[in-house]
Amino acid sequence: SSLAQFVDKLPDMPKIQAYGVVNGTFRPLSNPLKIGLYSKNWKFHRDIPPTPVFALGTCSQDATVPGPTIEAIHGIDTYIQWENHLPAQHILPWDPTIPTAIPKSKIGVPTVVHLHGGIDEVKSDGYGLAWFTNGFSETGPNWVQKVYHYHNLQQPGNCWYHDHTLGLTRVNLLAGMIGSYIIRQPEVEAPLRLPSGGEFDRVLFVFDRNFYTNGSLYMNPVGNNPSIHPQWSPEYFGDVIVVNGKAWPTLTVRRRKYRFRIINASNARFFNFFFTNGLPFVHVGSDSAYIDSPVSSDSLLLGPAEIADVVVDFSKSTTSTTILANDANYPYPTGNPVNQANGNVMKFIIKSQQEPDPSVIPATLIKYPVADPSIAAQTRYITLDEYTSSTGEPTHLYINGVPLSAPVTETPKVGTSEVWYVINLTGDNHPFHIHLALFKVLDQTALVNQTEFQACMNVTNDAVKCRLENYAVGGKLDVVAQEKGWKNVYKMQPGYVTKILVRFAYINSDKPYPFDATEEPGYVYHCHILDHEDNEMMRPLKPVA
Ligand code: C2O
Ligand code: CU
Repeated sequence: SSLAQFVDKLPDMPKIQAYGVVNGTFRPLSNPLKIGLYSKNWKFHRDIPPTPVFALGTCSQDATVPGPTIEAIHGIDTYIQWENHLPAQHILPWDPTIPTAIPKSKIGVPTVVHLHGGIDEVKSDGYGLAWFTNGFSETGPNWVQKVYHYHNLQQPGNCWYHDHTLGLTRVNLLAGMIGSYIIRQPEVEAPLRLPSGGEFDRVLFVFDRNFYTNGSLYMNPVGNNPSIHPQWSPEYFGDVIVVNGKAWPTLTVRRRKYRFRIINASNARFFNFFFTNGLPFVHVGSDSAYIDSPVSSDSLLLGPAEIADVVVDFSKSTTSTTILANDANYPYPTGNPVNQANGNVMKFIIKSQQEPDPSVIPATLIKYPVADPSIAAQTRYITLDEYTSSTGEPTHLYINGVPLSAPVTETPKVGTSEVWYVINLTGDNHPFHIHLALFKVLDQTALVNQTEFQACMNVTNDAVKCRLENYAVGGKLDVVAQEKGWKNVYKMQPGYVTKILVRFAYINSDKPYPFDATEEPGYVYHCHILDHEDNEMMRPLKPVA
């Protein structure tokens, strides 16, 4: 791409306060928020013509890509009526040969919103077949309600909302259907004295895109294997790196600490971020939860849908500018090396004069109960599988060798914890995400004689019968310190068995969920490479009482 970099300013997305304050006390709003999806044009870059997108906002005029940042308060319920104001047809090519939500009338773009990281009732979780079209004129078989209820009783931290429609998630997110959702708990967070307030505490929503010269979003319209799937491709990659809706933006900062909540909203791109002047990241949280104590790192690897919550101290900068750069191969880990376009993310211009800085990096943050695998109620084996055509092109991806529609097998008991061994038999790293639950990564061990193990699995599809313990005996990979806390997405290394402890309960309280998590149709877990989850790297998750 010959586009000039660092010519647009970093925007902040509009904020929506999802609570009221009466006499100094937080209160729920008296009416549900209404946030809609609108078809409009968006300027991603000074020199890219306006791009048709599906933006989010309270009306068409204020709709943005990403959508507004929703600010919620711990313990104060939020109600949102997500609205679909989209046109009759999609702006991007989709593929009816993968399991897809298709309205009977063939008119309208089905959408449904999931709050990623939210611990909420089934009916508000955004199940892939709970979709609806413009004005709710058609709804999917699992649609039950217009207004979604978010409890906000979980630990404070970062969530994000995005479309989750069956078979359309990759194109709906590419079109713009994302936004951040922060749950704050002032009595717990204020004493930490981290950088706060709109200027010093910011969301950085990062994704990659390609564009046609007329400004429209480019997506390979024929796929890699058109005789099987006329449009689907195994991974979408773009050369233009977009932060908060602008390509390679610039932010002028003061010489002091800032907090950045960095969300990777790409379909498939991993980022390994670093500052060209060597400034470190001080991690305070990962995905939707704080970690025990701050961790400093010179680079940070973020798979799709992962969130890094970091403090950057620009008073330590020896230079007046620095580039936030990326050196992760794509596909990760063994694909193409980055280039001058996708290897740059954004630029910081650091003011010369020192500033008073009342914020601190505290010695400890928030401690949640330790994860004790010995109390696990269940052990499960989860394989990640990829299938290819006779020409070696990927055709689809499954979990446990079965499609999404196969009967549910993961039925955890609400309130318990389980040990899952996630066995990655593919050549790709898959960002593995579980709805409702948080998990800790306990161990990563390489498989030896993977072909032999795989041959057994092809016959029995049973990791216990195939004696996984005889194969999961290779080298171990450390979990980096900032990812030892509670996560909701983790990078499953190819050829490794990753052992995780999954908790189907709050981490911040012993109280049971204030909702029934056992209702139909239940939740899902999946790979968060959107092109993979759309082509069946997803399974149902159905908690039981
Ligand atoms: Cu971020 Cu099931 O999704
Ligand atoms: Cu995947």
